[in-house]
Amino acid sequence: MPIHLPSPSQKGTISLEEAIARRRSIRDFIPEPISQSQLSQILWAAQGISDTRGRYRTVPSAGATYPLEIFIACGRNGVDEIDAGIYHYNIDSHSLALHYEGDVRLALARAARDQEFIYEAPVDIVICAIFERTGLRYGSRGERYVHIEVGHAGQNIYLQAIALGLTTVAIGAFHDEQVRQVLRLDKQYKPLYIMPVGRSTWGKIKEGNNLKKKEDNMEKSGTEKLPFLKVDQVGVVVKDIGKTIEHLASLGIGPFEPAHSTPIIEREVRGKPGDYELKIRFAQLGQVELELIQPVKGECIHREFLESKGEGIHHLGFFVDDIGKEIAKLTKQGIKILQSGRRANCGGFAYLETDAVGGIVLELIQR
Ligand SMILES: Cc1cc2nc3c(=O)[nH]c(=O)nc-3n(C[C@H](O)[C@H](O)[C@H](O)COP(=O)(O)O)c2cc1C
Repeated sequence: MPIHLPSPSQKGTISLEEAIARRRSIRDFIPEPISQSQLSQILWAAQGISDTRGRYRTVPSAGATYPLEIFIACGRNGVDEIDAGIYHYNIDSHSLALHYEGDVRLALARAARDQEFIYEAPVDIVICAIFERTGLRYGSRGERYVHIEVGHAGQNIYLQAIALGLTTVAIGAFHDEQVRQVLRLDKQYKPLYIMPVGRSTWGKIKEGNNLKKKEDNMEKSGTEKLPFLKVDQVGVVVKDIGKTIEHLASLGIGPFEPAHSTPIIEREVRGKPGDYELKIRFAQLGQVELELIQPVKGECIHREFLESKGEGIHHLGFFVDDIGKEIAKLTKQGIKILQSGRRANCGGFAYLETDAVGGIVLELIQR
């Protein structure tokens, strides 16, 4: 018996712009079920029909060849009133067909290089492709089109999740064959993305009462609101980033990713134009981002740190919405900038000279 999902809604509670601005890859999940209407909405956003004639979908497809097929690995108590199991999303009828009973999230996490949040999320969406559908029309170029297409579907899942108060992360690091075996899929299905979906502590803390209370108290007492209420990043200066990543991986810390932001166009070190090069990698540790920084060439505060203090924690970073405004407030208090950079679109970073007492450099980051 197929499980008919509630009809997807076309009205949400946040704007598209807000969903785009808040999209983030989050890897910590609360073991709470999501509702059937949330799952319905996510699957519709990923691949549902959005055309009254039933032909076109929420995601573009080269030549409307529609190579993507979606399976879900639903955990025990993963989705309200849906038993643990592997289900296939039937796009035309917006329903789920049970493919196999049982909770396979742990095996799925193992097949994805032990990324344990796959097991922790109440439900994992697995986007697969039947390449032949697009290949028949476009030959070898079809492969490229399918890879592009899964990106469209993944982004829709990210944005829909945020709009529902849920979070997700796109996972590409897994053994294709093992995932196929865990999901008991036919050879024609090639898994391309695993996207765990659920509620996370991230949103709760981000919008949490404690922070709000602190801010309210500051406002009441007439204290200027400073941006240092919640640490978003810990920056560590290292001699050899490759070796450090290897060492941290052995402790279960990672994966590390390069920065995906636009390049820095204006750099200053102690008020003068900066000419330096760094190797940087990021890993998410719960709410906090871990940044590894290896100075490669040129003079900068990270090299100074390495030479004077050796490897270790260099700064605490704080995400801000308007870096210019925050810097203006701090400059009024006599705080100087050690090193800064501006990005082509907007935003940037500024390391503050807050280390004279206590030795802690604070960084403002606008992304
Ligand atoms: C093709 C692709 C593969 C990815 N694979 C993984 C993965 O295997 N594990 C993971 O934790 N994150 C993975 N990510 C998520 C990236 O780490 C994440 O997008 C990046 O750190 C930027 O963070 P943001 O998504 O919050 O902007 C992947 C992202 C893409 C686009």
